[in-house]
Amino acid sequence: MEEKKLLGKPVAEKINSMVGEKVNFLKSKGIEPKLSVVLVGNDPASSVYVGMKEKACIQLGIHSKTYRLPENTSEKDLLDLVQQLNQDAKNHGILVQLPLPKHINEDKIINTINVKKDVDCFHPENVGRIVAGNPYVLPCTPAGIVEILKYYKIETSGSHTVIIGRSNIVGKPMANILMQKAEYANATVTVTHSRTKNISSYTKQADILIAAMGKAKFVTSDMVKEGVVVIDVGINRIDADNEKGYALVGDVDYENVAPKASFITPVPGGVGPMTIAMLMSNTALAAATQNGIKLE
Ligand code: GUN
Repeated sequence: MEEKKLLGKPVAEKINSMVGEKVNFLKSKGIEPKLSVVLVGNDPASSVYVGMKEKACIQLGIHSKTYRLPENTSEKDLLDLVQQLNQDAKNHGILVQLPLPKHINEDKIINTINVKKDVDCFHPENVGRIVAGNPYVLPCTPAGIVEILKYYKIETSGSHTVIIGRSNIVGKPMANILMQKAEYANATVTVTHSRTKNISSYTKQADILIAAMGKAKFVTSDMVKEGVVVIDVGINRIDADNEKGYALVGDVDYENVAPKASFITPVPGGVGPMTIAMLMSNTALAAATQNGIKLE
């Protein structure tokens, strides 16, 4: 049934159009929003994402510069680049694509990013601000999920929302956002993960189930209750008998779970388009903040 699908595209389009207006407003004040993206190494998936970020910036009139650095870049050289970008008043956002090569300490890099330029919301101070209920920006994927829930008027207040996965990028911040005393939050949140015993006993209780652990088709129909709202964050490549030789599937077994769900995000086309839209939104907000302007 088509109408049960929570498509990301219309939501991303709405966000993009709002961000476009904000960018124009900033430009009218002489501020040219700019995002710097740093990619170390040749991971093909990361390279695709970085290309998509560049394209989105161009579409919205945000200046962008991408630093493609070799795999053997030293930690010191990367720290130096981050510091240089911190000091550049014309640059408002810094995104260092993760994962980084093993010889570089990710925490050290993230901790060096100026908190006001941290458009990923990975810096511990910005993570702490979410927990304290006073966020600067929200991390892009969880923020995109909140926008999908808002757009489709899915009530989170009082819901039992179960999250699978405890990553710093999705699971942990998502839990902290949804448990806040705030509009489009107020959920009772359970976080499950790879060490959870009898995970079905939790997922079956979920009014809203957020799957974000990166395992293809992990969530099966026997793990959910009738009427559940399913948000699938997974993007997994599996072998397929088609031209490309692979297919992209989520963390949810869509065909079998969809008939039981009241709403469900497809993969691709659900959460995916939201992440970059929220990155653009965070960049506009960062540019405004660094220039003492408050955007509505
Ligand atoms: N790697 C996977 N997702 C992300 C993201 O949202 N930001 C960054 N910087 N790296 C990632």
